Amino acid sequence: MCGIVAYLGKRKALPILLEGLKRLEYRGYDSAGLALANGKLSVWKSEGRIARLEERVGQQPILSTAGIAHTRWATHGAPTEENAHPHCDQSGKIAVVHNGIIENYQTLKVFLEKKGIQFSSDTDSEVLAQLIGHLYQGDLEDAVRAALKETKGTYGIAAISSEEPDRIVAACNGSPLVIGIGEGEYLIASDAGAIVQHTTQIVRLGDGEVAILDRESFRTTTLDAKPVEKEIDDVEYSLEEIELGGFEHYMAKEIFEQPKCLEDSLRGRMRLEDGKIVLGGLSQLSREIVRARRIILTGCGSAWHTCLVGEYLLEELARIPVEVEYASELRYRNPIIEEGAVVIAVSQSGETADTLAAVREVKEKGAMILGIVNSVGSAIPKETDAGVYLHVGPEIGVASTKAYTGQLLVFTLLALYLGRRKHLSESAFQAYLRALERIPDQIQTILELSDSIRIAAKEWVDRENWLFLGRGFNYPTALEGALKLKEISYIHAEGMPAAEMKHGPIALITKDMPVVFVATKNSQHAKIMSNIEEVRSRGGRVIAIATEGDDEIRARADHVFYVPDTLEPLQPLLAVVPLQLLAYHAALLRGCNVDKPRNLAKSVTVE
Ligand code: G6P
Repeated sequence: MCGIVAYLGKRKALPILLEGLKRLEYRGYDSAGLALANGKLSVWKSEGRIARLEERVGQQPILSTAGIAHTRWATHGAPTEENAHPHCDQSGKIAVVHNGIIENYQTLKVFLEKKGIQFSSDTDSEVLAQLIGHLYQGDLEDAVRAALKETKGTYGIAAISSEEPDRIVAACNGSPLVIGIGEGEYLIASDAGAIVQHTTQIVRLGDGEVAILDRESFRTTTLDAKPVEKEIDDVEYSLEEIELGGFEHYMAKEIFEQPKCLEDSLRGRMRLEDGKIVLGGLSQLSREIVRARRIILTGCGSAWHTCLVGEYLLEELARIPVEVEYASELRYRNPIIEEGAVVIAVSQSGETADTLAAVREVKEKGAMILGIVNSVGSAIPKETDAGVYLHVGPEIGVASTKAYTGQLLVFTLLALYLGRRKHLSESAFQAYLRALERIPDQIQTILELSDSIRIAAKEWVDRENWLFLGRGFNYPTALEGALKLKEISYIHAEGMPAAEMKHGPIALITKDMPVVFVATKNSQHAKIMSNIEEVRSRGGRVIAIATEGDDEIRARADHVFYVPDTLEPLQPLLAVVPLQLLAYHAALLRGCNVDKPRNLAKSVTVE
């Protein structure tokens, strides 16, 4: 997500910080800022990319040798100059850059406001700066520790005080930070890639640890000030390797980071301690949404597939009638929007032209519009009445993977949130929460199938026509599996409800036709087993996604990829992962550029 870089040494900090930010820009790029200590703190911020920040400060003859900097990918608050980091406390003596999400920021904000502190941004991060400032009594190290003890959530932070210009304090919990040890200088970065050109000697800060950097030395402690001995690593990566986190492609990185991204997305929203779902972005309108008479879901590409799952989820769990529309059709169809209609627009980028136009069309007709979007501050959230962000971080690979599961997760949370207010019993709701909590770990186990999926893919990648079939909750997964395969490997693939096969596509089945069945154990399992038989009896070859322990299917398929069991409405979150891996390996085996497939664009801003 966001990026941090900081410097304390003998050289001018400004060019080192700007260059470090540029190297981190791939993590987030909607706004940026930096603070330099030079007698007082000088802070610059700007909306947009680092080049704009550079234009703003680049010409200043600043001699400061200590500073902190940040490039933002917004989670709380739009990507504006006010919301950009660093955030300062009210006195302007302390500046903080923060990666992560402070879950209890609202409670802390109310506490600080009661003490007379005025906030100047909408971010969770400013709360940290204000809290550190409030607790500051001349020792930054103590104030940071005291503030973090009150904080719930994830953070990687760097803090500086104008009263202690020879010191930077950093801390980390669930959001990585490394300390770079140079010759007579120290650096901090959220990603070693920002600083490897200055030093390859790196200390990785652990969760719950604080680093205190002075000009001559540095030390690490726990939040309780107990000293921690750290090992120094020698990193020798190319920059690209570091940005890709050791993966060959962004698509692979994004597939493999899904457990962590979904945990991030769940954080603070699914509260097991008091058995609640909290969707802050919808709280103002929750009564109207619960009373919705009809919901229309719209999007394009993979987002349209998540809308199909959304339809099943919202009807099953919240018992609200749902329609799904391609945004490109909805925008021109003169749709009927009656009293009580709620439209939900789904988009990773928040910029897709057809989805944006559909939003504007239904807005004209008076619908309430909600957004499920990944990119904070993009065009669609600006036009909607309320919404839920995915919080899965920037997606760079053109084929959607973590944004897809992120959208499914938000739909699941929304359906449960509405369901509990309508028909869902407390015990059923709690069972869903417990199952949802396990999803990130269950995806982790599915990722271990990667090698066996690659081996199986080798056998099939020269076949030019594939079918993907599923029923019920697995039907949209079949569509998404086919889309993933065709968009990055250029194999022709069709997805459809399994029962539809007999109305035409069955004519295509031969021994050269791989048919992928999404056949997890659920209410339609017996039906899909019959469909498998229909394919086999015509010589078709079967690849199955099945639930662990389903031995019956092993005897009927050429390859089976097992996923852990979960409640039926949550199965799309798991069953899609082997299909993402299948498409990825097939594309690589066919020598395709998986991150930038031909003719496609990540963000389609034309009709
Ligand atoms: C493009 C991308 C797809 C994406 C679709 C919708 O076609 O290649 O991966 O699903 O746009 O994009 P959005 O940003 O609105 O989710």
